[in-house]
Amino acid sequence: MKKSVLFLVFVILTLFTVSTAVAGAAKCPQKRKTKKAPSSLYNKDETGKADAAKGKAIYEKKAKPMACKMCHGPKGDGGGKLGAALKPKPRNFACAKTMKDVTPGQMFWIIKNGSKGTGMAPFKTLKDGEIWDVIKYIRTDLMK
Ligand code: HEC
Repeated sequence: MKKSVLFLVFVILTLFTVSTAVAGAAKCPQKRKTKKAPSSLYNKDETGKADAAKGKAIYEKKAKPMACKMCHGPKGDGGGKLGAALKPKPRNFACAKTMKDVTPGQMFWIIKNGSKGTGMAPFKTLKDGEIWDVIKYIRTDLMK
């Protein structure tokens, strides 16, 4: 009897440790598998007139087929529920070391076209203006 209780406690603790380990923030710095955008786009930035509040709505629920936060996490640290199962892990926007080379244009390119060989799919239903909105939100509220 006692042994089985101990065993149960052990199992629960193990499950708890495993689940917190996989659902936590992604590493920092983090390797990027994504290729560099063509240079004309890499240096482009149209976030000046973009709307961060609209971007937040896209990030948290409107994006189809899936909201960005499902993978990138509500805090943008790569700790989304679905992200845990992915390899490579979703980008950790809160990691300044990794994000220093990721320009607004680079972000635009990948949101529009996706990144082959990773879980990052192209978001074909977002209009260009909406993509700049979500970039603005990520850069002002989630990046450190
Ligand atoms: C199904 C999971 C998933 C969803 C949903 C998702 N992403 Fe990603 N995203 C990824 C993964 C995985 C990577 C990492 C690719 C890599 O290692 O370079 C990534 C990378 C990125 C990058 C980094 C580009 C770079 O050059 O480093 C940006 C920006 C990005 N995602 C934005 C978004 C936005 C905005 C949304 C919502 C409109 C979104 N993602 C939705 C999984 C996802």
